[in-house]
Amino acid sequence: MAVIAQKCPGIEVTVVDINQERIDAWNSDKLPIFEHGLDEIVKQSRGKNLFFSTDVDRAIEESEIIFISVNTPTKSYGEGAGKAADLKFVELCARRIAGTAKNDKIIVEKSTIPVRTAEMIKRIMQESQTDFSVQVLSNPEFLAEGTAIQDLHNPDRILIGGEETKGGRQAIETLASVYEAWVPKDKIIKTNLWSSELSKLTANAFLAQRISSINAISALCEATQADVDEVAQAIGKDSRIGPKFLKASVGFGGSCFQKDVLNLVYLCEHFGLPEVAAYWEKVVTMNNYQKSRFTKNIVKTLFNTVSGKKIAILGFAFKKDTNDTRETAAISVCRDLIEEQANLSVYDPEVKESKIRKDLNLKDGEERQLTIHDDPYTACEGSHAIAILTEWDEFKQLDYQGIFRAMEKPAFLFDGRNLLNIEKLRSIGFQIRGIGRV
Ligand code: UGA
Repeated sequence: MAVIAQKCPGIEVTVVDINQERIDAWNSDKLPIFEHGLDEIVKQSRGKNLFFSTDVDRAIEESEIIFISVNTPTKSYGEGAGKAADLKFVELCARRIAGTAKNDKIIVEKSTIPVRTAEMIKRIMQESQTDFSVQVLSNPEFLAEGTAIQDLHNPDRILIGGEETKGGRQAIETLASVYEAWVPKDKIIKTNLWSSELSKLTANAFLAQRISSINAISALCEATQADVDEVAQAIGKDSRIGPKFLKASVGFGGSCFQKDVLNLVYLCEHFGLPEVAAYWEKVVTMNNYQKSRFTKNIVKTLFNTVSGKKIAILGFAFKKDTNDTRETAAISVCRDLIEEQANLSVYDPEVKESKIRKDLNLKDGEERQLTIHDDPYTACEGSHAIAILTEWDEFKQLDYQGIFRAMEKPAFLFDGRNLLNIEKLRSIGFQIRGIGRV
């Protein structure tokens, strides 16, 4: 919304939320999200054509286009628990709009949702609406965290799905005209509603599948003395495969991949396609395997026990350049190591101590096994092993000679991101293990 406000000075954008604290943060100098370039863009437009407010009803009444951008977490209860998307927040938005709107509206699904959610929004609107027209569009978001502003400024494509009626086509054109302020027309794809909804889940499933595929090969590389980065480079040169999203890692995280793949699995099961469901579910199974394989490898390498040993964890965010920790591989790895009675000292340049403690949700007795540092060197001091879990650039520049001197020997380093130069670290004296390399 900040980018729309920036690129379309003639459009007034109001972001509303029922959470006062969050809106206050968006109106303050310290935004609630860490994302490169976002501060400047918000400050440029805030108070001019970009507003943050808790006055939800007024914003609904005054707007012509309403984006529903609430979260759709994996359902944790009842039918579909653990797989289906929980649509209660989307439904609440639809009901609030239905109860408040008095004139024509275009409602845009921006949240990632299962196929045919637009149907539910339309039904709710139809039941209560009187004499004005409502169009529901699907306009999924493809930005990635850490590069959000760049992705929004220069998207690969904008996808807009709508009904194949005159009103539907007009609504698509209206929304397209917003993006046309900065996105070339040929990058704006217009489809029917269901194709657009399904494309979002499919894009994330394909991306997650690529990571699970290369991670599966990483296990085979370790068994055969092949090097997964070399394999990725070799296959990525095939233009049909391409080089992106082939970086083997400790496992993918983030708020979307697992949730969306499981949502797809649920949809397939719902529509009576168990073979298709089983196929996609393996993407998540492989990711869980990769995370637990990493921890098991640490325990095995440290002479089959980490009990009472100090392990430094460098990086907790699910990827670099974000403070987001949702579904980060670091949560499973740290929890498993704590279970094995290791003492962890964690350092992440952006994630706050309170967040890490909340994510790990340790039992009373386990709390003393965890210390959080604001300096990577103290985190590594006296440790038996270091595990790199996020690919922060600053980890490439650390003084590994000094770190090595301050560690217990043998000094082990587990590079969960294949970030560091193995040869260089070996020459310092580290016992180093990467992912998919010997
Ligand atoms: C992902 C998609 O990339 C976006 O296109 C999509 O819009 C977004 O989900 C969403 O649905 O909101 P995001 O989760 O922000 O974006 O970040 P990614 O760059 O996709 O990384 C996801 C995870 O995969 C991270 O843990 C990352 O470290 C890992 N990853 C990524 C790998 O392990 N290897 C790779 O080669 C690439």
